[in-house]
Amino acid sequence: MNSPPSSYSKEDGGILLKQKLSKNTQLFSVLVLLLFEFWNIIYTDKNLEVTNMEFMSAREAANKWGISQRRVALLCSEQRIDNAMMIGNMWIIPSVAEKPIDARSTRYTKSEGKNVKPFVKWAGGKGQLLKEIEQYYPFANGKITKYAEPFVGGGAVLFDILSKYELEEVYISDINEDLMNAYRVIRDEIDELVDMLQTMQDEYVPLDDEERRKYYTSKRDYFNTLKVGEDEGINIAKAALMIFLNKTCFNGLFRVNKKGAFNVPMGAYKNPVICDEANLRAVSEKLQNVTIVCGDYRDSADFIDEHTFVYFDPPYRPLTDTSSFTAYTENLFNDEEQIELAKFVDAMDKKGAKIVVSNSDPKNTNEEDEFFDEIYSAHTIKRVEASRMINSNSAARGKIKELLISNF
Ligand SMILES: C[S@@+](CC[C@H](N)C(=O)[O-])C[C@H]1O[C@@H](n2cnc3c(N)ncnc32)[C@H](O)[C@@H]1O
Repeated sequence: MNSPPSSYSKEDGGILLKQKLSKNTQLFSVLVLLLFEFWNIIYTDKNLEVTNMEFMSAREAANKWGISQRRVALLCSEQRIDNAMMIGNMWIIPSVAEKPIDARSTRYTKSEGKNVKPFVKWAGGKGQLLKEIEQYYPFANGKITKYAEPFVGGGAVLFDILSKYELEEVYISDINEDLMNAYRVIRDEIDELVDMLQTMQDEYVPLDDEERRKYYTSKRDYFNTLKVGEDEGINIAKAALMIFLNKTCFNGLFRVNKKGAFNVPMGAYKNPVICDEANLRAVSEKLQNVTIVCGDYRDSADFIDEHTFVYFDPPYRPLTDTSSFTAYTENLFNDEEQIELAKFVDAMDKKGAKIVVSNSDPKNTNEEDEFFDEIYSAHTIKRVEASRMINSNSAARGKIKELLISNF
């Protein structure tokens, strides 16, 4: 008996199912082929794009973005830089790549990291004025996310801010090449630097006075033969020697003669801490994303915008003829330079930056002297007390007034 056409035997059903399946499989294969072709087109285009790209090394990227090589490598491995590639054990980065915003930075939040302090003693250091200066920190309102300190010196304010806040971008500069080399080496080469400083500490501290003097003089002579920028080994040695000299010389002064040679005599510290490893490592961590520039304060113009807090601490205008607070480097910062700086401050004010400037108060020695009141007449001037020497005569030491000038 024939089965009604509308009903199917098991076998018929099997055949129909097979036909249906094979149709589906064909459709599926076509789809896969199409997808494959599509992907191939995109991939080839991307490949072509990549092969046509120009690349820079991690070191070049680090220099361009003002961050450490370690940080560049980390950003690459976190895939935060498009088309960065590992060749052997080195990263290469498209020359056009932009520095990614640091994801570690939570905008202007209080930092939970370690406290850091200056790694050198520096003439004009602002450690004693921090209580006054911190009152100006404008990070609470959420608009200010960047910090610039174009005359950074020993960085008392910088390290106070880095200890307290995590900012999106930080820029520091100073004209002193040896100082900025030390900042950069601490950021990029901390292990070797700590080794060298520890060796010098172990060698120097046990010596008697006479032997210390010989050791100090030989290190100072060696320091003066080295030129920053020749190669990284020399940069590291020069940074280590600079820190050693700062910790063992008279008063932590940095003074050079006309030829640019460091000429400060040995100091009289019994047990100088030449290698403060914990602080140096903490400083290194904090500097990882900081742009470090050796150059004139005017180079900071491109960095400064309406989101930036800028602290300018230029060389003091001398209070007396004999005081020489300005002799940090071969360059002197005379009245004309102070006026130029005031104009620069006005230009940055127009950009919308929040600005604080400090200087010595000429009224300490001459009530009539209106120099800063005139050149900063558009801004607010506060006179605060600081204890420092007016000149080398110890009788003249004592509380004197300093100026804090702000545009807010
Ligand atoms: C008063 S000190 C800064 C001290 C610093 N606030 C601290 O706490 O240690 C002034 C600094 O300005 C630097 N300097 C002098 N002329 C400069 C210039 N034209 N551009 C940038 N820095 C300059 C000096 O090398 C010196 O380190």
